[in-house]
Amino acid sequence: MATPQPRFDTGYGAQVQRRVPDTLPRTLDEVGGWYRRTDQLVMDWLLGYQESAGVTGDLLEMGAYLGKSAILIGRHRRPGERFVVCDLFGEEPPTAENRRTAQFYTKNLTRAAFEFNYAAFHSESPEVLQAPTSELPEHVKPGTCRFVHVDACHLYNVVREDVQIARSVLIDDGIVVFDDIRSAHTPGVPAAVWPEVATGGLRLICLTPNKLYATWGDAKPIQDAMLKWLRAQPASKSEVQQVTGERLIRVSDWTTPPPCPVPPNGPPPARSLRVTPRAKRIVVDLLPPILTRTIKRARAAAQNRRTAS
Ligand SMILES: C[S@@+](CC[C@H](N)C(=O)[O-])C[C@H]1O[C@@H](n2cnc3c(N)ncnc32)[C@H](O)[C@@H]1O
Repeated sequence: MATPQPRFDTGYGAQVQRRVPDTLPRTLDEVGGWYRRTDQLVMDWLLGYQESAGVTGDLLEMGAYLGKSAILIGRHRRPGERFVVCDLFGEEPPTAENRRTAQFYTKNLTRAAFEFNYAAFHSESPEVLQAPTSELPEHVKPGTCRFVHVDACHLYNVVREDVQIARSVLIDDGIVVFDDIRSAHTPGVPAAVWPEVATGGLRLICLTPNKLYATWGDAKPIQDAMLKWLRAQPASKSEVQQVTGERLIRVSDWTTPPPCPVPPNGPPPARSLRVTPRAKRIVVDLLPPILTRTIKRARAAAQNRRTAS
């Protein structure tokens, strides 16, 4: 008997787990992953904010799975910037503990599936590092990235190392995002990240139901601009709290989610006409004999009229 696929709540009811696709995804919602609309909107805004503020630097994603978040991040690569994506994509994980957690993803994941999905939205591929995140320092130079999404292994020891890699590769006001910062099944993430806030100089930007956004630089101008943006969003609820003496914007899910920031890559498929079995029986089985009978009768009547006159 087939093992039932686990379902995850993306916040907006999409079924996210799927096997290697056989048709190109048209919308981001069709790509498997755990990337809620709230984080799509916040990440898209932050990347756009950096661009409007003239910040330049490379983009890095640790943990790409089937490409859902990478597809959005890749839209923000500017000329001269690199976009590096690091994932095991089924490669042997570095530790037995990591192997147990990575098995969950490898059931559905191949590098080909990632590349297939990404190519549906982008003509240029990102640089793919198929390796554990611990190998990133050999490929990404210190102080080169403006944005890092940490979403690979969620175990404490690995996230702790990923935090330090992010810190090293980011430029001064670069932004880091930590996934699953408060999920019940990933206690290693908050255990590895919050001490960096308490004692490592990591400054909070905002917290969504899933992710923490922060910087080792100056969070204030980013937060000021973000609050203006959020206040102009009638369907978004947010509040400001003080955490470890730092301002934190808590962003809730939009009550009516705006459209996905990644537009569909093509028009919706043409709707085919659904013919019910009853309609088909009338058209195919009943109509032709009725028509034939009617024509025969009309011809006979015309013949009779000609004979009578
Ligand atoms: C939660 S998924 C990433 C989801 C993706 N960011 C999205 O939003 O669609 C985690 C990914 O991390 C990868 N992974 C797990 N352990 C890793 C490690 N040590 N190094 C690199 N990637 C790893 C898995 O293969 C999996 O694809």
